[in-house]
Amino acid sequence: MSATRAVVTGWGMYAPARIMTNDELSRIVDTSDEWIASRTGIRERRIAADDETTTTLATNAARDALAVAGVDPTEVDLVLVATASPDYLMPATGVLVARDLGATRAAGFDLNAACSGFLFGLAAGAAFVTSGMYRQVVVVGVDLLSRYLDWTDRNTCVLFGDGAGAVLLSASDDGQGGLVSIRLFSDGTGEEGIIIPGGGTAHPATEETVRDRLHFMRMAGKEVYRYATRQLAETTQAAVADAGLRMGDIDLFLYHQANIRILETVRDLLGIEAEKVYVNIDRYGNTSAASVPMALAEAVATGRVQIGDRILMGAFGAGYTAGAAVLEWTADPTRAFLAPGEQTRAGQPRREPVTAGSA
Ligand code: UT7
Repeated sequence: MSATRAVVTGWGMYAPARIMTNDELSRIVDTSDEWIASRTGIRERRIAADDETTTTLATNAARDALAVAGVDPTEVDLVLVATASPDYLMPATGVLVARDLGATRAAGFDLNAACSGFLFGLAAGAAFVTSGMYRQVVVVGVDLLSRYLDWTDRNTCVLFGDGAGAVLLSASDDGQGGLVSIRLFSDGTGEEGIIIPGGGTAHPATEETVRDRLHFMRMAGKEVYRYATRQLAETTQAAVADAGLRMGDIDLFLYHQANIRILETVRDLLGIEAEKVYVNIDRYGNTSAASVPMALAEAVATGRVQIGDRILMGAFGAGYTAGAAVLEWTADPTRAFLAPGEQTRAGQPRREPVTAGSA
């Protein structure tokens, strides 16, 4: 009998309706559309409404992933949520998402690898599947960093947006396709590179931590940029080699959307054709753990993925962390269709997104 593989059978994404443009930001901090667009590639981002939470964003994406797969929530064994911006320190967001999905049999938990979280989540989810412990695992990458941004700090607030992406990983016993290789990396010397210092055990919340703005994200942009570029290239090479492939065998590169210049540099370092690198940073900014699964859902929905395609997913983030995976696509990509700018599948009635209290 062939070894059990973890294959993607469902996919979904959710972006809050509210669009914040660069021009709007330039009325809040000393910046400009020209600076943001030329230095980062970002033109606009989505910002969650007051009645949305990390749980509601994640639930909307996961609900679509289950609908695409045709899997009932009660069949789900595990809901794994990768996020650096949970609703609460406890309980875990994964537990709340499982509840709101109606995944009554599922265990739920969170993991945090910041912007690389989805890759770490995929690795963990796939391990549950290939070990034989679970057969249906929802992996969500979600972040609602607008609540952790210092809206007086132009070094960070112009970069990030809110969103969620999800896949359903299912057990396949025919030994074909699915996750072929995955590489994870972390280096805690990068502790201060991207950090929300307050609210944990190092700096528990006090009046001083609020006054000193320790509950907001801080970033050493230049150092992160240099580190990210090198690490993303190296991790990609490792994952592709582990898969027994060459760079030219990869059909599509779905990278964490942090800065268009990082993607261009990695592309040049690895000799990848420009059209193979998926870009949506212009519309969503950096959505942290959500960015890779959002890119995946969009790429499938817009006809960029065919059965048999080899997809490289890669990300880096706070920690530092990085991850890259090679996925061989096996699902019928027409099962779901996201018209550009739409958040629901064509041909299906538009559902009202879940918000806090409405689930
Ligand atoms: O997913 C998490 C990982 N995070 C990242 O990947 C972020 C990685 N870093 C970056 O993407 C880039 O370093 C940034 C986009 C954050 C910054 O771009 P940069 O080209 O490295 O700019 P810089 O930090 O060197 O700043 C250049 C100038 C500075 O002014 P001076 O000192 O040259 O007068 C900044 O003060 O741009 C200024 N600046 C801004 N100007 C207008 C910084 N932020 C802004 C802004 N608007 N928002």
